[in-house]
Amino acid sequence: MEYHIKDPALADKGLLRIEWAGQHMGVLKRLAIEHEGAFKGTRIAACLHITTETANLAIALKKAGASVRLCASNPLSTQDDVAAALVKHFGIEVFAVRGEDRDTYYEHIKQCLEFKPHITMDDGADLTSYAHKYGLTGGILGGTEETTTGVIRLRAMARDGVLHYPVIAVNDSRTKFLFDNRYGTGQSTIDGILRATNILIAGKTFTVAGYGWVGRGIAMRARGMGARVIVTEVDPIRAIEAYYDGFSVMPMEEAIRISDIVVTATGDKHVIAENHLRVARDGIILANAGHFDVEIDKEALERLSVKVRRIRDSVDEYTLEDGRRVFLLAEGRLVNLGAAEGHPSEVMDMSFSNQFMAVKYILDNHENLEKKVYRLPDEIDVMIASLKLNVLGVKIDELTPEQKKYLSSWEEGT
Ligand code: ADE
Repeated sequence: MEYHIKDPALADKGLLRIEWAGQHMGVLKRLAIEHEGAFKGTRIAACLHITTETANLAIALKKAGASVRLCASNPLSTQDDVAAALVKHFGIEVFAVRGEDRDTYYEHIKQCLEFKPHITMDDGADLTSYAHKYGLTGGILGGTEETTTGVIRLRAMARDGVLHYPVIAVNDSRTKFLFDNRYGTGQSTIDGILRATNILIAGKTFTVAGYGWVGRGIAMRARGMGARVIVTEVDPIRAIEAYYDGFSVMPMEEAIRISDIVVTATGDKHVIAENHLRVARDGIILANAGHFDVEIDKEALERLSVKVRRIRDSVDEYTLEDGRRVFLLAEGRLVNLGAAEGHPSEVMDMSFSNQFMAVKYILDNHENLEKKVYRLPDEIDVMIASLKLNVLGVKIDELTPEQKKYLSSWEEGT
């Protein structure tokens, strides 16, 4: 078996944590039982955050008969005990070490592709783009993509006619983005900030850059903990939504002067740029919740600084020429996975059930799919939601035949 992990001795700790997460992933467990053996002979190369939730996905895929090889989708998000447990206790090949440098990160992606996968499973599209760049797409039937940023990259590849195989945008299932992006990132971003800094959120001025599903979740949770929340946006419609959701809305140039904390969640680069850093409030905490570490201009921060110290794990203090201090969390990488453990298992249960069903969808339909980005069909989304309700023990009403008829007719008004 092939692997590259930090320390095999961590395996037993990882095993217990994987079991704990698994207890909150009832939908995925049911799907694995229902489809036992159905993926027999399928090789899956997966580039995901190596967490206890990802471990449960890999175990479910294995139970369904697939062989899985894993690499990390971020250099800082690997939980080394989980990687060790997957290798030792589940026979899953893992190439991931927390804190790996850029070259090792890509070397691990390469090793994942040497598995000659039938399916690529991606979070951020680095695996898929690497396979395309180095001509390693032969034999791949299809891919899946977990996150907004990855879907944007893949849609650009499809638009430019360079995508070599169909990809399922798992992110675009409602049972994914409505819960994972909003409640998952909302909670885990606050979790990352708290684990890194141990500050009190109450009373702080807390700016969220971007009011997509992720930004909405963070703003909602920060407000719930007593912060005064500001939202910055470039989209007029989202800006009005934020305004009527009760948040202050203003440009970053204004917000950064008065904020204690700023979190970026836009998916775009240099949302906090040099001009913002020049006027940032002394003692400001900066964190990023977007997939890549491009949202805060780290080079500008380094250029403007006369001193840098690691003051706590995941907290770097930058002292600027005029003495102001900026505290950067998790090196500007996604703070929820760099400084905490990512989204809780309950939401990852639905996200990864979508991943699981996306594999089945590719295996069943690849002959009829074009080299495009697809959503999973609505029936699968609804099936996952229904199973989740069942696992939660929540019952809901059903439309009566009379109500169904009313909804489908245009004749009857009153
Ligand atoms: N992305 C965000 N949170 C995650 C988690 N807990 N596991 C895997 N991927 C994630």
